[in-house]
Amino acid sequence: MAIKFRLVLLSLFCLLFNTISGAAISPGSSLYASNLNQTWSSPDSTFSLGFIPTDPPTSPPSFIAAITYSGGVPIWSAGYEIRVDSGGALHFLSSGTLQLVNSSGDTVWDSDTASRGVSSAHLDETGNLILRNGTASVWSSFDNPTDTILPSQNFTVGKVLRSGMYSFQLLKNGNLTLLWNNSILYWNQGLNSSVTTNLTSPSLILKSIGILTISDPKLATAAIFAYSNDDAEAGDILRFLKLESDGNVRIYSSTKGSGTKIERWAAVTDQCQVFGYCGNMGICSYNDSNPICGCASLNFEPVDPKDSRQGCKRKMEIEDCPQSMTMLDLDHTRFLTYPPETDSQIFLLGISACKVNCLVNSACDASTSLADGTGQCYYKTAGYLSGYDSPAMTSSSYIKVCGPVVPNPPSSLERECKKKVWKMKAWILVLVVVASLLGLTAVEGGLWWWFCRKSHSFGSLSAQYALYEYASGAPVQFSYKEIERSTKKFKEKLGAGGFGAVYKGILANRTVVAVKRLEGIEQGEKQFKMEVATISSTHHLNLVRLIGFCSEGRHRLLVYEFMKNGSLDDYLFAPEEQSGKFLSWENRFKIALGTARGITYLHEECRDCIVHCDIKPENILLDESYNSKVSDFGLAKLLNPKDLRYLSLTSVRGTRGYLAPEWLANLPITSKSDVYSYGMVLLETVSGRRNFEVSEETDRKKFSIWAFEEFEKGNIKGILDKKIADCVDMDQVTRAIQVSFCSSTASSAPATSSSFQISGVWPSAPARNMEKATASLIQLYLS
Ligand SMILES: *[C@@H]1O[C@H](CO)[C@@H](O)[C@H](O)[C@H]1NC(C)=O
Ligand SMILES: *[C@@H]1O[C@H](CO)[C@@H](O)[C@H](O)[C@H]1NC(C)=O
Ligand SMILES: *[C@@H]1O[C@H](CO)[C@@H](O)[C@H](O)[C@H]1NC(C)=O
Ligand SMILES: *[C@@H]1O[C@H](CO)[C@@H](O)[C@H](O)[C@H]1NC(C)=O
Ligand SMILES: *[C@@H]1O[C@H](CO)[C@@H](O)[C@H](O)[C@H]1NC(C)=O
Ligand SMILES: *[C@@H]1O[C@H](CO)[C@@H](O)[C@H](O)[C@H]1NC(C)=O
Ligand SMILES: *[C@@H]1O[C@H](CO)[C@@H](O)[C@H](O)[C@H]1NC(C)=O
Ligand SMILES: *[C@@H]1O[C@H](CO)[C@@H](O)[C@H](O)[C@H]1NC(C)=O
Ligand SMILES: *[C@@H]1O[C@H](CO)[C@@H](O)[C@H](O)[C@H]1NC(C)=O
Repeated sequence: MAIKFRLVLLSLFCLLFNTISGAAISPGSSLYASNLNQTWSSPDSTFSLGFIPTDPPTSPPSFIAAITYSGGVPIWSAGYEIRVDSGGALHFLSSGTLQLVNSSGDTVWDSDTASRGVSSAHLDETGNLILRNGTASVWSSFDNPTDTILPSQNFTVGKVLRSGMYSFQLLKNGNLTLLWNNSILYWNQGLNSSVTTNLTSPSLILKSIGILTISDPKLATAAIFAYSNDDAEAGDILRFLKLESDGNVRIYSSTKGSGTKIERWAAVTDQCQVFGYCGNMGICSYNDSNPICGCASLNFEPVDPKDSRQGCKRKMEIEDCPQSMTMLDLDHTRFLTYPPETDSQIFLLGISACKVNCLVNSACDASTSLADGTGQCYYKTAGYLSGYDSPAMTSSSYIKVCGPVVPNPPSSLERECKKKVWKMKAWILVLVVVASLLGLTAVEGGLWWWFCRKSHSFGSLSAQYALYEYASGAPVQFSYKEIERSTKKFKEKLGAGGFGAVYKGILANRTVVAVKRLEGIEQGEKQFKMEVATISSTHHLNLVRLIGFCSEGRHRLLVYEFMKNGSLDDYLFAPEEQSGKFLSWENRFKIALGTARGITYLHEECRDCIVHCDIKPENILLDESYNSKVSDFGLAKLLNPKDLRYLSLTSVRGTRGYLAPEWLANLPITSKSDVYSYGMVLLETVSGRRNFEVSEETDRKKFSIWAFEEFEKGNIKGILDKKIADCVDMDQVTRAIQVSFCSSTASSAPATSSSFQISGVWPSAPARNMEKATASLIQLYLS
């Protein structure tokens, strides 16, 4: 009886010993996921091995077999966090192997120590789980780490920490590295330069006081790699290094029993530089200080709406839209590129070429122009794209999408920001205005005194402000009186454009200007000023500069810089004997190229893209050295679309020959319409004849149609303007004619008799695929 009682007591004691006080784990014992209270503990219960629920919890619940530090912080797991359901178990078999099985009884992880004479297992006070043959260690969790390194753990070359797609390794030379998918090296850090010795067999050791060191037989003392920011602080604290699922390696400290960990050091200081952090095609950015993941535009959607880190996918695959494929512009964004650059190629290309070349290259999926002065452009082939967006970044990226581009709505943060900036700007404006008013009043007073002694006439007060503002680059608001005075009551008419007559004027500061008196503008003053602000914010060598405006009552006037050499049509169509105006081929080519540049800027490079809608020779002005300047851009927006259509179609405006077919077909007007019109202008620049001119010489066909037929017959000389026929660069002429026909097929309307069927002309683009004909491509091919 007594013996029996003692036996029961003994087995009870053994059980208690096993589960609570901790000791050698004997072969044949098991842990079950159904009972989380059951654990194998270290002698002082600092560490324990048992099942814990996954973090975050899943439904139905899943578990991992893990060693946890007092309080519940996991520091090792069986098989890199292999999950089992509540039917799972961890067996320490009598064969000496440790085995994780799931509810169906299949082995999902094994320590592979069967038949190696393992007779006992032991979890020690450092957190190391050791399987022993007698006293010799056969297997240990320190030698088979998962994602964590503990103090006194010896992490040597060849060992790997893993978490999801990420891995952490020590190289033979003592460098520490982080890899994505075992291939992309996004972090590679060596010891500081004070250590110059070549290492032979380095090992990474985290000191319990929080210093990360590398020791090597060649080093007298361990070299310090990093300090955690609480190093050597007292307390019952465990420091450990962990590779997190976000791809960063950090040193944490955890106070005994707290169950929480605090970050003390991170390998990658900029989380967005971790490759793949936001998944494929995800874009990483910061809100305040947290990295957040998003998609590039509304042309994309998250793979998993509940988990933004899973990346994004196109709503429509680009294979499904060869017609409308376009490049989405991502300012201040970079697609991360790390060695080995297998999925990218580096080119030396300009910013717009970086975008355009990718668009026409079917192997290219996206591109990044560093725009940092190195001229480097990275091509990304279809595969894994990891984006990083930061306002501080100079680089621009481009990714293929199915048009039209639908930008992301501004985030609440951005809106907030804009409001703040606006408020600040308003304040600055008020301050500047007050200060300059005071300053100018003083100057004005002085000037008044100075001038009045000699003469009684000088410019009005506001004209003096105009001068001041003109110099600062902002559009000047003129009063109607001032305009009347400067144009001498609209005496000298320069011409009549699509939106109203133009008059010559001279401002108070002697600047010669062209004043456009707009007609048929019903817009309110506020809207008008907004459009004026947009127009005047576009600065380009090949765009006419807007100096100021007047908006008073029903008067709407725009004041432009004056172009000495008038408009292109004067040179092309007026008989030379009459006008005395002649343009050499050299100048014509320069004008064509400059015009393409101006249009490219309007379409692609300025902040709010502008479709001109009225490209024609009358709107291409020439400065004193025959640089072309596009005028009247942005005016189309002043009219409502219905009026615009009407205005442009009325023969009075004389623009009919330049309108893309979509105008007639009532289709949406896009930048392609400008490209079409440009093509017509280019043909006229080469030929000196109106594209819609019909004559005996052209077999009673429209000149453009006739020219195309002649071009196909190879009669380029017949198309060429007779005035310049003798000194031209035939190669340039041919190219210009090709481009003009290609551009004229760029219309978004279905092919009509007025659009050309052309093949094999456009560089690296298949025939009839002229959707791709953009102003920047024209520029590229012309030059
Ligand atoms: C585990 O322990 C908690 C409290 O210590 C207790 O409420 C719970 O019933 C226990 N569960 C099992 C399965 O023993
Ligand atoms: C158990 O593991 C096997 C092998 O890994 C797997 O095929 C099976 O789906 C798992 N069953 C459960 C319920 O997890
Ligand atoms: C276990 O260790 C003993 C002595 O250290 C050794 O003789 C024996 O071969 C080992 N058993 C196995 C299976 O390795
Ligand atoms: C770490 O392990 C390697 C190889 O097992 C050994 O040479 C080295 O001495 C160990 N370092 C420390 C500090 O224990
Ligand atoms: C990871 O690399 C393998 C080959 O090394 C490749 O097959 C796989 O697609 C890659 N994974 C991703 C998500 O790109
Ligand atoms: C080791 O890291 C340093 C940066 O700390 C780097 O310059 C060097 O190229 C790396 N060495 C190797 C072999 O990767
Ligand atoms: C390290 O090795 C390189 C090449 O193996 C050698 O050129 C260099 O001198 C060595 N540096 C030291 C400090 O031994
Ligand atoms: C560089 O390494 C040496 C030797 O380990 C160490 O004394 C020094 O503090 C380190 N310097 C920095 C800036 O980490
Ligand atoms: C930033 O993002 C984090 C995580 O998504 C969120 O908790 C936090 O509220 C955000 N902060 C702001 C200012 O939007």
